[in-house]
Amino acid sequence: MTPDAPKETTPAAEGCACQSGTAVAAPTSRRNFLLQIGIGLNVLAGALISVPILGYVLSSFAKKFPLEWINLGSTSQFPEGTTQLASYENPYRRPWDGEMARIPCWVRHISANDFQVFAINCAHLGCPVRWFSESKLFMCPCHGGAYYENGDHAAGPPPRGLFTYECRVTNGSLEIKGGILPNLGNPGNPTEVAKPA
Ligand code: FES
Repeated sequence: MTPDAPKETTPAAEGCACQSGTAVAAPTSRRNFLLQIGIGLNVLAGALISVPILGYVLSSFAKKFPLEWINLGSTSQFPEGTTQLASYENPYRRPWDGEMARIPCWVRHISANDFQVFAINCAHLGCPVRWFSESKLFMCPCHGGAYYENGDHAAGPPPRGLFTYECRVTNGSLEIKGGILPNLGNPGNPTEVAKPA
């Protein structure tokens, strides 16, 4: 008895749906294509996530610029014993700031050359405070924070008094040292500020 001749197998016999040799490569190349798209999307997502993180890390190396003395006008504009609203132009304004570059502040003229200048932003969450001369209080419209006329905290959620600007009188003009709004991260009078890009 002769051994059975080896059976000839065909792609169809092996369960392959392909009908020709050239069509066999199609699933592989499609898989590679999808793999490359996946890798590309991952690289793109990684880049998008890393940009803000890199910006934050590199911002600590940003060049620092000193705050500037800013003229608020003649002291005669602020009668003794009053508290009045004033404003100044941010020395580090950017072209697109528009009216936002004008920063309001409260000026309290105590006597002679004795002034206090307060940032307008509440020490709680930054809402602009208003001065009420009848009650001699600064009031915040957002959550009811209140401050005495000297800027000390009087009531409500603010954790401290109003932020103040360093100020001086030069040649009859009131000047403040500014460039950024004082805030909880930079209370009082920071000596320098990173210049905006
Ligand atoms: S922002 Fe002024 S009390 Fe909250």
